[in-house]
Amino acid sequence: MSEEKKKTRTSPIRKKQKGKDPLAAVILAGGLGTRMKSALPKVLHPVCGKPMISYPLFAALRLKPERTVIVTGRASHEQIIHALSSYKDALSFALQEKPLGTGHALLTAMEALGAFPGSIIVLNGDFPLITAGTVKKLLQLHRQNKNAVSLGSFIAEDPGPYGRIVRDGSGVPVRIVEKSDLSSAEKDIKEVNSGLYIFEPEAVALLANIERNRAKKEYYLTDILALSRLAGLRTGAYTVAPGQEFAGVNNYRELHFAEARMRRRIISGLSEQGVRFLAPDTVFIDSDVTCAPGALIYPNVHLQGRTSVGKGCIIYPNVRIIDSAVREEASVLDSSVIENSEIGKHAQVGPFAHLRPGSLVKTSAKVGNFVEIKNSTIGEGTKAMHLSYIGDSSVGKSVNIGAGTITCNYDGVNKHRTVIEDGVFIGSDSQLVAPVSVKKGSFVGAGSTITKDVPRGSLAISRAEQKNIEGWAKRRELAPKKQKKTEDNKSASGKSKSKENSGAVR
Ligand code: UD1
Ligand code: CA
Repeated sequence: MSEEKKKTRTSPIRKKQKGKDPLAAVILAGGLGTRMKSALPKVLHPVCGKPMISYPLFAALRLKPERTVIVTGRASHEQIIHALSSYKDALSFALQEKPLGTGHALLTAMEALGAFPGSIIVLNGDFPLITAGTVKKLLQLHRQNKNAVSLGSFIAEDPGPYGRIVRDGSGVPVRIVEKSDLSSAEKDIKEVNSGLYIFEPEAVALLANIERNRAKKEYYLTDILALSRLAGLRTGAYTVAPGQEFAGVNNYRELHFAEARMRRRIISGLSEQGVRFLAPDTVFIDSDVTCAPGALIYPNVHLQGRTSVGKGCIIYPNVRIIDSAVREEASVLDSSVIENSEIGKHAQVGPFAHLRPGSLVKTSAKVGNFVEIKNSTIGEGTKAMHLSYIGDSSVGKSVNIGAGTITCNYDGVNKHRTVIEDGVFIGSDSQLVAPVSVKKGSFVGAGSTITKDVPRGSLAISRAEQKNIEGWAKRRELAPKKQKKTEDNKSASGKSKSKENSGAVR
C-alpha cells in the first residue's frame, strides 16, 4: 500500500452517519505551561499581537460551532476569561481544577457541554499556526469516512516531543504513543499527532476509561485512540496540512519559531494583496493589521494592534504605529510613533513625531519634526512643522503653528482645552495657557504667552517691548575695567542703577 493511502485509511467498522451532526468546539488551555518558565499563562503569550489561544479559537469559530468551551487552569482562569472577554458571549469556560492531563481536560469540558449530541472538535490551545481551512478539511474527512475519532497528523523528520501515531498492518491508526513511552520498535515512527481532533459522542464516552499514564501521572487524551479501536469504533488520522501549521509551543524557542512563521505568513499575504515592502524581513506586522494595495513600507516598521494603512501610503523607516488608521496617500516619515490616532488622507507626519492617543490629523495637514500631539484635532491643511506640543486642543483648518509652540494644558491638577480656530497664525515660541481660545483669523506674535482669549481677526502679543540702546556696546568697551566689573555684578543681582545696563541684561 502506498504511503499516502496508508495515511488516510480508516478502520472498517461503520457507525451510523453523522453528516448533519451539530458541532461543538473545545480548546484545551488548562495546562501549567511550565516549560515557558513564565508567570504569564502559556496560551496568553502574544503571537503577532494576539494571545496564542486566539488562533486555534478563531480557526474553530470559523466552522460556526453551536457551543465552544475553553478549558482553563487554576492559575490561568481569570486571565484567559479577561483576554477573551470580547468574545465571551460565544464561549463557555470550564475550569480544570488540577492539570491532570489532556484527557482530563476534555472530560472537564464535557461536563460543561453536557450531553452534546454532535461532533466535537478539540484543539490544543498552543499551536497558533493552525488555520480554519485545515480544521474544515479534517471535519470533511471525518464525515466522509464516518469516523468516531479523526485526528490531524504530520510527518516530522525529527518527531521531538510529539506523540507518535502507530498504525496497524492495514494502515489504520490504532494508538498514539508519547515520547516517554516509546518502545524501540516505535522509535522510528515519523508520523505524529498534531493536537487537532474530532470526536463523536461514542468516542467521548470512552474518556472515563482512560487510565493515568504511569510515567507522567496524567490522563492522556491520546489514549482515546486505542480505546476507540478496542470498542470497535472507526478511527482516522490524516495529514491535512504541512507540519509547520501544527508547530506546538511549549517553550520560548518554539514560540519564537511559531511567531517568525506567523510574521512571514502575514507579510506574504499582504505582499500578494499589493503591499510593497523594501525589506520584508525587518518589518513586524500584527495579525489584525490591514494594509491596502499600493502602500509602501520601508525597513524596520512596526504596525501593531488594529492599525490600518490606506492605499498609496508611505511608511518610512523606524516607524511604530499602534491601533491607528493611516488614510489614503498619507505618509509617516522616519522614526515616528503613532498611538490610537488617525492620520487623514494626504497628510504627512514626522520625521520624529509622536501622536499620542486621541489625535486626529485631518486631510493634507502636516505635523513635522519633533512635534508631540495628544488628544487633539489638527484641521485640514494645518501645519505644525517643528518642535511643538499640542495637547487637549482643537486646531482648525489652515492654521500655522510656529516652531516651538506649546499648549500649556495642565495646571498641575486638571487638564484644560485650547481652541485655535480656522486660519489662525501662531508665531514661533508661543505658549497658549489653557483654557484659552484663539478665534478665527487671528495672529499671535512670536514669543507670546497667551492667557486670555484672542478675539476674531486680532493680533495678540504679550512679550515685553523691545528696546534698542544705541552705542551701548561701544560704551561698555570703553568703560574702565574695574568699574565695568562692578557694574556687571550689580546688574546681575538686579541692583544696577544704570538704566541702560538693566534694560540690556533683562
Ligand atoms: C500533546 C499531545 C501529543 C501531541 C502534541 C501536539 C497529549 C498527551 N499529548 O502533547 O500527542 O503530539 O500535544 O502539540 O495530549 N492541557 C490542559 N490540561 C492539562 C494538560 C494540558 O488543558 O491538564 C492543555 C494545555 O494547556 C495545552 C494542550 O492541552 O494547550 C496540550 O498540552 P501539552 O502539555 O502542551 O501537551 P504536549 O506535551 O505538547
Ligand atoms: Ca504542547
